[in-house]
Amino acid sequence: MQEIFDKANTIHEEIKGATPATAEEVEQFRIKYLGSKGLLKELFGFMGQLPNERKKEYGQLMNTLKAAAEAKLEELKTAFENGSISNKEIPDLTAPAYQFPLGTRHPLSIIKNRMIEIFSRIGFTVAEGPEIEDDWHNFTALNTPADHPARDMQDTFFLTDDKQWMLRTHTSSVQIRKMESEKPPMKYIFPGRVYRNETISARAHCTFHQVEGLYIDENVSFADLKQTMLYFAQEMFGRNVEVRFRPSFFPFTEPSAEVDISCFVCSGKGCPVCKHSGWVEIGGCGMVDPAVMENCKIDTRKYTGFAFGMGIERITMLKFQINDLRLFFENDIRFLKQFESAV
Ligand code: DAH
Repeated sequence: MQEIFDKANTIHEEIKGATPATAEEVEQFRIKYLGSKGLLKELFGFMGQLPNERKKEYGQLMNTLKAAAEAKLEELKTAFENGSISNKEIPDLTAPAYQFPLGTRHPLSIIKNRMIEIFSRIGFTVAEGPEIEDDWHNFTALNTPADHPARDMQDTFFLTDDKQWMLRTHTSSVQIRKMESEKPPMKYIFPGRVYRNETISARAHCTFHQVEGLYIDENVSFADLKQTMLYFAQEMFGRNVEVRFRPSFFPFTEPSAEVDISCFVCSGKGCPVCKHSGWVEIGGCGMVDPAVMENCKIDTRKYTGFAFGMGIERITMLKFQINDLRLFFENDIRFLKQFESAV
């Protein structure tokens, strides 16, 4: 029985000593002591357990408690209203700031931006074109008519039954758009996403990215193309890198070549990156076929040009020694955050 009195007295002391400092704490105080499930309610409930001769005394104690709690609340509310308690806790202005975790750029964006930077230093300007293309821009104007076997080089996602509309299979389509709408001299790179109907594996995907280059002017020669590829390779992979050109075929260039660089990992000695050949392929290129320029009404007696195409995934995989293309599209943060500081 004495316990009940003791408990009531303890709570009385608590009420008198309480120092809520924020609006929230004042409300917590009210709920704790005066709320419908509060401590005072509970204490009133013990009345029934007391012998009759002590009920009056307990009742008075309860009234004092209730009055004390209400008075405290009133006092706090007034203090709150006239501003001596603020709505928020005053922050510690000397505390160190929280670290705000910054995101990182996607490795493909890092390399794309680097390619843009490298080419823009020698006068190339970025231009873009649509991902949904028509037959003319993706194939026919690029010297690849409907029955041409070179169409089989790329597995196309057609969008219409008549095969007039498709997802572009390469960014070479943007060459045509630019040559149709502008007059030489022109010096562009076309970065962008392309699509091919290929089975997804470590080395192939149904969507990837390319950077296409186009330079048309008077007297542009294969030597200019070679020098441009050498400059790019050395800027991207290191000053000691060498380039070699292997004769190849593309419908839109003549002559055409594939560009290899000496392996920047083993300096040509042979390693897993270059599959022990000492060389790795970085893209295709060639002199723009006069037929392509004529399709775009460019005077081929006056102008010549070169073009090249590179896969951004390919360059990124070489640069960062990534061995599975699918990693680029899985968005695993543990993978993605490794590259920001690597270039
Ligand atoms: N369009 C070619 C492809 O996707 C790449 C390419 C090769 C582009 C040679 C060019 C070039 O401009 O000259 O496979």
